[in-house]
Amino acid sequence: PKLIVVTREGEEREIDGEAGLSVMEVIRDAGIDELLALCGGCCSCATCHVHVDPAFADALPAMGPDEDDLLDSSDERNATSRLSCQLPFTDALDGLKVTIAGED
Ligand code: FES
Repeated sequence: PKLIVVTREGEEREIDGEAGLSVMEVIRDAGIDELLALCGGCCSCATCHVHVDPAFADALPAMGPDEDDLLDSSDERNATSRLSCQLPFTDALDGLKVTIAGED
């Protein structure tokens, strides 16, 4: 499935992602290293923060309490915020567009 990533500079990249990885892993595997993902996906760092296209909001798994708490530590949080390591990338998300959140 395709993942569209908008970098902090506003550059749009279309990635042919592997279903079964997390959205964070798909972004990292594409060589986009501004998404730090420091904790490696165990939901404890919040450096994998992205803004998700609202059109896909209903297709995403519900936010867990740990993700919610971590996002609260970010000044960049808004209604479209998610931690990309908590989003499994699936065929149902083909065409998903995420924007890498600004640095805190
Ligand atoms: Fe650390 Fe997602 S990679 S919370």
